[in-house]
Amino acid sequence: MTAKIIDGKLIAAKVRQEVKDKTAELLASKGVHPGLAAVLVGDNPASHTYVKMKRKACAEVGIESFGFDLPQDASQSQVESLVQELNARPDIHGILVQLPLPAHLDEEKVLAAVGLNKDVDGFHPLNAGRLAQKGREPDFVPATPAGVIRLLEETGVQFSGANAVVLGRSNIVGMPVAMLLVRNDCTVTICHSRTKNLPEVIRGADILVAAVGRAQMVKGDWIKPGAVVIDVGTNRINDSSAKDGSRLVGDVDFESAVEVAGAITPVPGGVGPMTIAMLLVNTLRAAEMSLKKG
Ligand code: GUN
Repeated sequence: MTAKIIDGKLIAAKVRQEVKDKTAELLASKGVHPGLAAVLVGDNPASHTYVKMKRKACAEVGIESFGFDLPQDASQSQVESLVQELNARPDIHGILVQLPLPAHLDEEKVLAAVGLNKDVDGFHPLNAGRLAQKGREPDFVPATPAGVIRLLEETGVQFSGANAVVLGRSNIVGMPVAMLLVRNDCTVTICHSRTKNLPEVIRGADILVAAVGRAQMVKGDWIKPGAVVIDVGTNRINDSSAKDGSRLVGDVDFESAVEVAGAITPVPGGVGPMTIAMLLVNTLRAAEMSLKKG
């Protein structure tokens, strides 16, 4: 069997178009122009690239974006003061602090300083806590996990009672995606570097989300025939046949997995485009919420 390829580019384009239409409508009917502030501390090249991509995507759907760059040696109070300033600005509806922050900064404190009504990354401890609790609703859900769920929905996955395995326990992807799968009535196993018999655990998955950051770690014979595989990994490996001598691969060995899975996301072109699309969804939501809260 060859798996259906889940086209993240296509689904993300659909989501972006929805945001574009609703953004135009919000401006026309209420005079509100959604605005996103992107805070970038230091000179991590990947972070610079991500923020550039996010700001370009904003421009394409009519969301205004504002860039705030602080030096690598910015102090904790400098970063927190900037966030407070942005909290007070009515033209900014969403604040994103690009992670990782330089090691000397207290990430938790910075994220807790973001106004709850502007927490478009969903990383504020209160939103993260609500996501993990039954009967509570976060105002915002982190973009990559939300994108993973949207891809599964678009693939027509049966969530209720499915065995879902999440490989990776990060705050940005693994943990929140596991919470979302539980909220969708899956039976969820979270695996990590200390998990025993990993291939066997993964073989039990009807839904596999790989977010561990290890190139091509999950092999085809670890996958249950017909399973739906969402690969969040973006790892650069050497490839002498490629123009720049390298290429991007996921956490799943695509070549062998595609022969076993029922559906699978490619890397690139799977989860990546969804992360940005869902950030736009959250920013529009923040602008809409600003009307309700006066
Ligand atoms: N670093 C890696 N992924 C993300 C993300 O989704 N949001 C932010 N702010 N930083 C990240």
